Amino acid sequence: MNITIIGAGYVGLVSGVCLASVGHKVAIVDNDQNKIANLAQGVIPIYEPGLVELLKKNISKISFTTDLVAALGDTEVVFIAVGTPAKKSGEANLAYVFAAAKQIAINSVGYKLIVTKSTVPIGTNHKIAELVKKNNPKLNFSVASNPEFLREGFAIKDFLTPDRVVIGTEDKQASKLLLEVYQDFSKRDVPILNSDIVTAEIIKYAANSFLATKIAFINEMADLCEKTGGNIKQLAAGIGLDQRIGKKFLEAGPGFGGSCFPKDMLALLYTAKKYQVEPSLVKCAIKSNQQRFAKLAKRVAQIVKETGVEKKLSVLGLTFKAGTDDVRESPAIEIIKHLLKLGFKISAFDPKGIANAKKILGKKIAYHDSVASAANNTQCILILTEWNEFKEIGNLVKNKVVIDFRNLFDVEQMKGVIKYYSIGSNSGIIS
Ligand code: NAD
Ligand code: UGA
Repeated sequence: MNITIIGAGYVGLVSGVCLASVGHKVAIVDNDQNKIANLAQGVIPIYEPGLVELLKKNISKISFTTDLVAALGDTEVVFIAVGTPAKKSGEANLAYVFAAAKQIAINSVGYKLIVTKSTVPIGTNHKIAELVKKNNPKLNFSVASNPEFLREGFAIKDFLTPDRVVIGTEDKQASKLLLEVYQDFSKRDVPILNSDIVTAEIIKYAANSFLATKIAFINEMADLCEKTGGNIKQLAAGIGLDQRIGKKFLEAGPGFGGSCFPKDMLALLYTAKKYQVEPSLVKCAIKSNQQRFAKLAKRVAQIVKETGVEKKLSVLGLTFKAGTDDVRESPAIEIIKHLLKLGFKISAFDPKGIANAKKILGKKIAYHDSVASAANNTQCILILTEWNEFKEIGNLVKNKVVIDFRNLFDVEQMKGVIKYYSIGSNSGIIS
């Protein structure tokens, strides 16, 4: 099948490359000329494990362009995968989605199925249909919602072997075409869930809000463990082995971040308010997470005071989680901002996130090109992202205070440190 994707970001790019890998011919359109020029030469603007290799393997089936007219020429299925960032009010900014829909309307001749892959609030797909009708009354088209559930860092695996594919449409032709798009998936027994458009739109927000609430919950249990002598890893296993709860997304840490959980929960609140519904659980989870950053910075300050080390920190990790270069709403960055206000000097290292972090933190912190270089500078190491390579820290921790907000280590591994602190357990004095 010929498929067009508008937006060459994390979702558009990964979706395009993956759809090509299952046999489709894909045109990926973006209005960022620089991005497209780089992509056409095989230079990928994001870090996503395996993406360069999969692109290379399928390059004959993929084209990159800024020319939407050309890309729309011989395709029936157009995916919208542009950004839907939060406005100050929490409402999702749909300007990019509507701009893309209008461009499709104006530039299309034959039948088009317009599929929204961007995360959009209830009612957006219906508004897209109205907008297309208004801008091209003669166009034969359908709309469908097909939310994406991939995680950055695992995007290819998540896209190609998802727990489910959600197809939201009330239109038979749209449903038939999308089943063709995902034919390879259904052959591999990936569940395909058909729903109406509104339900598909809500499913996406409900999934993200549920997962984020699960994380906020385990973080609150970690606080309780710290005060009472409990152990959060054992607690997570103890509840997670109950299959009704499940083991995943029970890792306590510095709070959830990223470009989606925080913005999607705010957008859900905004929409619910519009319909006079009060999602108080989601509200509490947002608050619990937001308060966590300041609370953890304060805990670092207390530890530094208690142990008598200098007010200088070696921070390991700047991205919102391992496996990505994305620092949007990164808990690491939020905690660093609080630490700077508390007067800390910071030397930081991240394997992939430094360039993006510099755009936010500028010269307020010092950047290093290795764990060793960042760690050498201070008496206190603070781990904020769970990169695997930090596990190889070895002798660098000797005679230092280690604050591990990602629970990368067990206390027994921390031989020779002054003191080791983790999330959700009593700290252990080693030397
Ligand atoms: P992104 O910011 O990385 O990429 C969006 C791209 O769209 C940019 O390259 C931008 O230049 C391009 N664009 C914007 N308007 C355009 C237009 N009119 N024509 C052509 N190109 C245009 O965004 P993202 O992280 O890929 O997220 C996209 C959507 O998918 C969001 O709604 C997000 O919530 C959702 N989502 C994201 C993830 C994720 O892991 N990042 C996962 C699931 C769903
Ligand atoms: C999340 C969802 O997991 C995807 O299903 C969804 O498609 C995506 O949002 C989206 O809509 O954009 P992502 O933001 O890439 O994916 O990252 P996650 O792996 O979900 O992590 C989000 C945050 O929660 C990170 O800060 C991470 O460190 C934190 N987290 C995650 C924990 O603190 N503990 C956990 O057990 C899991």
